[in-house]
Amino acid sequence: MQRKIYLDNAATTALDREVLEAMMPYMTEHFGNPSSIHGFGRQTRAAIEGARKTIAKLLNVSPSEIFFTSGGTEANNLAIQKTIADLRITHAISSPIEHHAVGHTLEHLGHEGKIKLSYVKLKKDGHVDLEDLERLLGSTERSFVSLMHANNEIGNLLPLKRVGELCAKYDAVFHSDTVQTMGHYAMDLKDLKVHFVNCAAHKFHGPKGVGFIYINSAMKISPLIHGGSQERNMRGGTENLYGIVGLAKALEIAYRDMKEHQQHIQGIKTYMIEQLENSIPGVIFNGDAKGSSLYTVLNVCFPHTPQAEMFLFNLDIAGIAASGGSACTSGSNVGSHVLRAIGADMTRPSVRFSFSKHTAKDEIDYTVSKLKDMFKVKEKANP
Ligand SMILES: Cc1ncc(COP(=O)(O)O)c(C=O)c1O
Repeated sequence: MQRKIYLDNAATTALDREVLEAMMPYMTEHFGNPSSIHGFGRQTRAAIEGARKTIAKLLNVSPSEIFFTSGGTEANNLAIQKTIADLRITHAISSPIEHHAVGHTLEHLGHEGKIKLSYVKLKKDGHVDLEDLERLLGSTERSFVSLMHANNEIGNLLPLKRVGELCAKYDAVFHSDTVQTMGHYAMDLKDLKVHFVNCAAHKFHGPKGVGFIYINSAMKISPLIHGGSQERNMRGGTENLYGIVGLAKALEIAYRDMKEHQQHIQGIKTYMIEQLENSIPGVIFNGDAKGSSLYTVLNVCFPHTPQAEMFLFNLDIAGIAASGGSACTSGSNVGSHVLRAIGADMTRPSVRFSFSKHTAKDEIDYTVSKLKDMFKVKEKANP
C-alpha cells in the first residue's frame, strides 16, 4: 500500500485524542446553552469561563481580555475593522506578505476610502525593514500597524517585542496575526507591547472553526458581530462550547509539551534542509529558512522543471501532502503574493512543507527520495 505523508501542518493539524476526550462530554451530556440561567446552562458557562481562564493564564493576561471567535480570520477582521472605525485611525501600515485575512481586509478598507494604506519595505530575506517601519510611523499621526508574527508561507518571524516598542514610541495601535505561532512559542503578552493577537485552535491540534482574540484592556472597540450579549457584548451568537473547551485543552497541551516539540520539529526541518541540499542540486529556500524562522515551516524553491505546474499534483500522486506557493500559472491563479513580494523566482516550482510533532524523519527520507525521482537525480555510486 502506498504511504501517505502529511507535510501540510501550517494549513491544519490533526486533532489530538486528549483534546477530543476533553470535548466529548460537551457534545453529549453537557449540552446546555451557556446563556441559560438554569443548571444545564450554568454548567456549560463554567466550562467556557474555565477555558478563558486557562488561556489567559498561559498568556499572562486577564481573562477579560480574551474573546472567543470562529478562528483567526474573524479575529483579524474584528481587530482591523473595529479599531479603524472606532478609534478613527486613518493610516494603516502593513506588509505585502500578510495572510489574506489581514491583507484583503485592509485593502477593502482602503478601497472604501476609510484608510490610507502604507506597505513597509521588506529586506532581501523577506524580513520587515524596521527602519522603513519607523519612517512610516513618523510620517503621519497615529497609525494602525498590522504585521504578522510568523509568515504562514515562508515562516519568517517578526521581532514582536521590538516592533511593539517601536509602535509604542509613536503611539500606534499594534495588531499582530499570531495564528501560526500561538501554541508554538510561549507568549507573555504583558511583556509585549501588542494590542491585539489572535489564535486558531486547528493550527496546534485543536478543533477547526474556533479561536480567540486578545484585546488589550486599553483598546475600547465595539463588536463586529452584533446579536446577544455573549462574550461580554463583544461577539453575539451562541458559543462554540465544545470548540472552546477543545481550544483551551489544545493550548494547555501545546504549552506543556512545547520544549520537546520545538526541539523535535526544528530537528526535522534542519534535517530536511540538509537532505535536500545534499540530494537536489540547485535547491534553495524561500525566506530566512536558516535564520529567524518558524520551526514548523520550510518553503523550498526547486530547480526549473518542465513539470512545474504539475509539481504539487505529482507529490500528491506520490502520497505526499504539501502546499503551494508555486510558479505562476495561467488563468486566475497568479501564484503566491508572498513569494512575489519577496522577489522569489516565480518560474521555478516552490513548495511549502510544514511539520508537526507527528512528523518523523523517515517521512522526510521518503519525501526526499520521491523528489529525487522527480528530478531524476541519480544515486552517487559507492566508491
Ligand atoms: C497567518 C494566518 N492568519 C489567519 C489564518 C486564518 O485562520 P482561520 O482559517 O482559522 O480563520 C491563517 C490560516 O491559515 C493563517 O495562517
